[in-house]
Amino acid sequence: MKRVGLVGWRGMVGSVLMQRMLAEKDFDLIDPVFFTTSQAGAAGPDIGKEVPPLKDARNVDELKAMEVIISCQGGDFTSEVYPKLRAAGWDGHWIDAASTLRMADSSVIVLDPVNLDVIRDAIGRGVKEFIGGNCTVSLMLMAMGGLFQNGLVEWVSAMTYQAASGAGAQNMRELLRQMGSIRDAARPLLDDPASAILDIDRVVAEHIRSADYPVDQWGVPLAGSLIPYIDKQLDSGQSREEWKGFAETNKILGRGGNPIPIDGICVRVGAMRCHSQALTVKLTRDVPLDEVQAMLAAANDWVKVVPNDREVTMRELTPAAVTGTLTVPVGRLRKMNLGPQYLSAFTVGDQLLWGAAEPLRRTLRILLE
Ligand code: HSE
Repeated sequence: MKRVGLVGWRGMVGSVLMQRMLAEKDFDLIDPVFFTTSQAGAAGPDIGKEVPPLKDARNVDELKAMEVIISCQGGDFTSEVYPKLRAAGWDGHWIDAASTLRMADSSVIVLDPVNLDVIRDAIGRGVKEFIGGNCTVSLMLMAMGGLFQNGLVEWVSAMTYQAASGAGAQNMRELLRQMGSIRDAARPLLDDPASAILDIDRVVAEHIRSADYPVDQWGVPLAGSLIPYIDKQLDSGQSREEWKGFAETNKILGRGGNPIPIDGICVRVGAMRCHSQALTVKLTRDVPLDEVQAMLAAANDWVKVVPNDREVTMRELTPAAVTGTLTVPVGRLRKMNLGPQYLSAFTVGDQLLWGAAEPLRRTLRILLE
């Protein structure tokens, strides 16, 4: 059995990875070794089989003894440790959730239901860096893979509605504190059935602009508002999150030399862990809607085409319905007024599952084959 090192397994993405690896019995197939940046020597997690005490994640000699390493420790750790590990002559496979190595020529972005051919080709060429994609990109491709596979996408505009989890655990907590503080501020008026709604609205507006509103993590209100900017500002006018849509999608699809234009606006909303996206797709030709639906549905085992019906959409095509599941529904499918080649779609996916942890454990499985 391969010796597989796990780093960052206690953080949010790492914890979801652990849940999924336990559920799929991945640990039965490997010799897991758990690393830590703070508690070397402590007992490892309970995974139903004996594991050695935690090892120091910065000890290159300990890391070198692994055949595969999976890191959810974050980009700073990758930047610090990975070059040292290679410099020390390590020849193993590195699977990473962080974006540090994502666009490196030496790496492949892993999303096997969409790019198994690219992954297998990379393994064949001796590639050793297998990096999880940006969550928004991976979820868009899980939903729309059928159209890309069939060469039907001329371009895509993606308008996103991204959950708090993408910014981290502390941000999720602050979203809830913001929600609670709004409710607390409005409570006396809310509890009085005779109060005027505009008075409630004024109290809420004053509260979310006040110094009492908790914004340490977000910097600005999210609950009761939204944030139309995610990640760093680039000279192109895009946010870094928007830039990734084009760069990563085309790398995942192995289309670096012949990229499909993809652009949009990425927006943070008050959902917990599901990213949603409103897509406008220009098709390369006028394909009947039933054929589009059939291609989307056939692309992988997790995408689910939701009929463009109000009641079903409201029930099934939401973060509330999807959170904690691997299903990636896509709906609101219709040809737009813009012309018969223009398709609208709306999709939702759990950004901690297909958006982060799931492609990593599936890559491990592929490397074990
Ligand atoms: N950058 C994403 C977000 C999460 O902020 O939602 C990680 O892919």
